Amino acid sequence: MEIKNKVIIVTGASMGIGLATARLLSEKGAKVAPVARSKEILEKLAEELPESFSVAADLSDAKEVERMIDEVNKHYGRIDALVNNAGRGIYGAIENTDLDAYRKVFDLNVVGPLAAMKKVIPIMRREGGGVIVNVSSMVSKAYIPYLGAYASTKYALNAISLTARAELEKDGIVVSVVHPGMTATEFGKNAVKSDVIAQGMESRHREHLPEPDTAEHVAGRILLALQSGEAEIFAH
Ligand SMILES: NC(=O)c1ccc[n+]([C@@H]2O[C@H](COP(=O)([O-])OP(=O)(O)OC[C@H]3O[C@@H](n4cnc5c(N)ncnc54)[C@H](OP(=O)(O)O)[C@@H]3O)[C@@H](O)[C@H]2O)c1
Repeated sequence: MEIKNKVIIVTGASMGIGLATARLLSEKGAKVAPVARSKEILEKLAEELPESFSVAADLSDAKEVERMIDEVNKHYGRIDALVNNAGRGIYGAIENTDLDAYRKVFDLNVVGPLAAMKKVIPIMRREGGGVIVNVSSMVSKAYIPYLGAYASTKYALNAISLTARAELEKDGIVVSVVHPGMTATEFGKNAVKSDVIAQGMESRHREHLPEPDTAEHVAGRILLALQSGEAEIFAH
């Protein structure tokens, strides 16, 4: 997809990968709709990005997701692309996983993107096509101790995304998945920690881990997914 003048929703755009993506897409001439819960940060961002339109919404609530898509569609009269990037980690041993916390993370990482897809697909179909990029994770290709609960949400997201890709090909709607590796954002700090093993997990293992990518690097991979329509792109 050509990016210039396209209306593109970027969720989780108040910080980290989403913020870098919103800025990069705007630089490339897109009309960006940044979405997250932090209303004031989004309003400042909307002042920075020409022709942007921010929506504050809690994307773990499917009703809020639908309202967000409605507001963007009403504002621009069209939606060309959706980047489902908002997400949260949950770290800890499987046996210690707090079920309520897991359900909340699942609602954000899986049900939210699914609700957004359900709402945006008919809009894109009417327009003759569109692009959906779902931000998953490299952990969805592995079984890493203490990351199983989080990884499971991204395994689910992969299944939904790549099945939708096959279902929607006939409508000209392209669905892609981007898998970031470790990326230098607030993600680790913001993750739910289910047990003491999860506390300080990243700093404890820092010397064994590769250098994290920058949010800007991952934003570049999301841009590539939007432009190329490749099924899966690995950021690292
Ligand atoms: N960083 C990594 O190492 C890494 C690796 C692999 C995959 N990923 C994936 O990359 C994506 C972005 O992560 P990041 O590293 O940029 O994380 P981050 O720095 O923690 O940013 C998360 C973003 O999601 C938004 N968000 C969180 N809960 C929300 C909710 N309930 N409703 C709406 N928005 C919400 C946050 O904004 P508000 O707080 O303002 O709502 C923020 O903009 C996630 O899907 C993550 O799973 C990250």
